[in-house]
Amino acid sequence: MSRYLVTGAAGFIGSHLCAALEAAGHAVVGVDCFTDYYAAALKEENAAGRAIVRADLAEAPLEPLLDGIDGVFHLAGQPGVRSFGDAFPIYLRHNLLASQRLFEAAARAGARVVFASSSSVYGEAEGYPTAEDAVPRPISPYGITKLGCEHLARATELAFGLDAVLLRYFTVYGPRQRPDMAFTRILTALAAGSPFELFGDGSASRGFTFVGDAVAATVAAMERGEQGAVYNVGGGAEATMSEVIALCERVSGRSLDLRRRESAKGDVSRTAADTGRIRAALDWEAKVGLEEGLQAQWSWVSAKVGRR
Ligand SMILES: NC(=O)c1ccc[n+]([C@@H]2O[C@H](COP(=O)([O-])OP(=O)(O)OC[C@H]3O[C@@H](n4cnc5c(N)ncnc54)[C@H](O)[C@@H]3O)[C@@H](O)[C@H]2O)c1
Repeated sequence: MSRYLVTGAAGFIGSHLCAALEAAGHAVVGVDCFTDYYAAALKEENAAGRAIVRADLAEAPLEPLLDGIDGVFHLAGQPGVRSFGDAFPIYLRHNLLASQRLFEAAARAGARVVFASSSSVYGEAEGYPTAEDAVPRPISPYGITKLGCEHLARATELAFGLDAVLLRYFTVYGPRQRPDMAFTRILTALAAGSPFELFGDGSASRGFTFVGDAVAATVAAMERGEQGAVYNVGGGAEATMSEVIALCERVSGRSLDLRRRESAKGDVSRTAADTGRIRAALDWEAKVGLEEGLQAQWSWVSAKVGRR
């Protein structure tokens, strides 16, 4: 059994990862600074009573956090592609600065790092489904900071021997999905009978990954990933926003009050993962289909809205 540090432990994916590691018998130290990107109360709910060290990786001393740690799951960061303008310094701090400090500290401590990068590094990709060796050309400041983190991990490997594995998550969904993400917004609108604002004409499509599948890939990367490797984590299902809305209506048995808005700058028109590399290297593939995963998220959202 190992002792792991999970950064972003009170977040959507991090909280599921902590639970999975604990269930497998590992010791887990969670760290999170409860940024105000969304309500701290939601992060408290995610944490579900688990003790979490409150520290900001961009400035806290990291050596004590890494003491006795076998591996670090680095999921803390500022997510969301709407990252132009005044938001950019937040992305610099929570993605680039926090990661640079953590990578160097982990290298000194001799702890492996699994880093949560993003399909956003591909931007409008060269081709679909997109493999890891496609030239990354992010179109959002968020994607640029994530790609910068990937390069920092490589530079830290060359300079100080960091052992890092880089995961590019493709739109992760399921219970506890962040409130700014489309599925939570759609399902909440359906449960509450409130309007939903769709950015774009509904033709944008995404490769969607159920959170349990993403967590399994993340654990496999820590246990069996090759040092320095980058793996796409996706491939569960691809659907357009219009298809997603129809599916959400079917799962909930309700119809959506849809308001159309212009698509947001930084949003790509399509993501789709080529998962050949992670299948071959880690024997991982997505298992949960979109309807099954949405059903689980609907149960979570509707119970929450019912409690309001
Ligand atoms: N959810 C997705 O679809 C998706 C897709 C691609 C990549 N990712 C990446 O995966 C990671 C987890 O995503 P999520 O959806 O769970 O996001 P989330 O916002 O729910 O979780 C991130 C957590 O990190 C914490 N955090 C941020 N900066 C910190 C800092 N400097 N020090 C300590 N804690 C800090 C936040 O408070 C938050 O609880 C992020 O790095 C995100 O960019 C997510």
